[in-house]
Amino acid sequence: MRKTLLAVVGAMVVLGLVSALSYSQQKTFQYVGVTKCKMCHQLKPRGEQFQKWQNSAHAKAYEVLATEQAKAVANKAGVQGDPQKAAQCLKCHVTAYDAPASAKSATYKMEEGVTCEACHGPGSEYWKMNVMKDLYDGKIQPASVGMTVPNEQLCKTCHNEKSPTYRPFNYQQAVAQIAHPVPKQ
Ligand code: HEC
Ligand code: HEC
Ligand code: HEC
Ligand code: HEC
Repeated sequence: MRKTLLAVVGAMVVLGLVSALSYSQQKTFQYVGVTKCKMCHQLKPRGEQFQKWQNSAHAKAYEVLATEQAKAVANKAGVQGDPQKAAQCLKCHVTAYDAPASAKSATYKMEEGVTCEACHGPGSEYWKMNVMKDLYDGKIQPASVGMTVPNEQLCKTCHNEKSPTYRPFNYQQAVAQIAHPVPKQ
C-alpha cells in the first residue's frame, strides 16, 4: 500500500518535471530591439559592440530604403510603391520581418534595421546579466535561451542573388568588416 502510494507520488513528481521542461521548451523567444543590448554593449571595456554596429551598413538598412537609389532599385525589380513598406524589400532590410507578432516584444522596432538579434537571435531570454555571463563562459547552450551562433549560412539568408543589388559575398572579408570582439583581458 505504502509502496504504491510512493510510486504514485513519484510518478506525479516526474510528470510535473517533464511538463515544466516541455513548457520551457515551448516558450517563444521574442525580439526585444537594440536598446536592450546597448545598455551593456556600449561600454568600452566590453568592446563597444553597439557603436560598431551603429556605424555599420546594417544600422542603416531600413533608412536606405527611403533613398532615391532604393526607389530606382525597386522600380527595376518591379516592386510597386514605397520600398519602406514593401515586404519584398523589408524581408532582408530589417530584423525578423517574417516572424509572427507574438515573437516581437513591445520594444522591437523595425526602423532599427538589421540589428544584433538578426544575427544573434531573439534576446528576451538571454539579455539578463547572469544569463549573458553563463553563455559567455559556456555554461549554457545558446539554443536553450534563443541565441543563434552566426555563421556564413546565416549571412547568406540575405547576402544572396535575390538581393537586387547583389555583390559577391566573401564571408571572411565581410566578417572582418563588421568585427566587434570582446577585448581580451
Ligand atoms: C545586462 C548586461 C547585458 C545586456 C543587456 C546584454 N548583454 Fe550580451 N553580454 C553581456 C556580458 C557581460 C557578456 C560576456 C562578455 C563580456 O564580459 O563582455 C555578453 C556577451 C554577449 C555575447 C557573446 C556570447 C558568447 O557566448 O560568446 C553576445 C553574442 C551578446 N552578448 C549579445 C547580446 C545581445 C544581442 C543583446 C541584446 C538582445 C545583449 N547581448 C544584451 C552583457 C549584456
Ligand atoms: C535577399 C535579400 C534582399 C532583398 C530581397 C533586398 N535587399 Fe537590398 N540589400 C541586400 C543586401 C545584402 C545589400 C548589401 C549589398 C548587396 O550585396 O546587395 C543590400 C543593399 C541595398 C541598397 C544599398 C545599395 C548598395 O549597393 O549597397 C539598396 C538601396 C537596396 N538594397 C534596396 C533594396 C530594395 C528597394 C529592395 C526591394 C525591391 C531590396 N533592396 C531587396 C539584401 C536584400
Ligand atoms: C550581421 C551580423 C551581426 C550583427 C548585426 C551583430 N553581430 Fe555580434 N557577432 C556576429 C559574428 C559573426 C560574431 C563572431 C562570432 C564568432 O566569432 O564565432 C559576433 C560576435 C559577437 C560577440 C562576441 C565577441 C567575442 O569576442 O566573443 C558579441 C558580444 C556580440 N557579437 C554582440 C553584438 C551586439 C551587442 C550587437 C548589436 C549592437 C551585434 N553583436 C550585432 C554577427 C553580428
Ligand atoms: C537580415 C538580413 C541580413 C543578414 C542576416 C546579414 N546582413 Fe549584412 N547587410 C544586409 C543589408 C540589407 C545590407 C545593406 C544595408 C545598407 O546598405 O544600408 C548589408 C550590408 C553588409 C555589409 C556592408 C557591405 C555591403 O556589402 O554593403 C557587410 C560587410 C555585411 N552586411 C556583412 C554581413 C555578415 C558578415 C553577415 C553574417 C554574419 C551579415 N551581413 C548578415 C542584410 C543582412
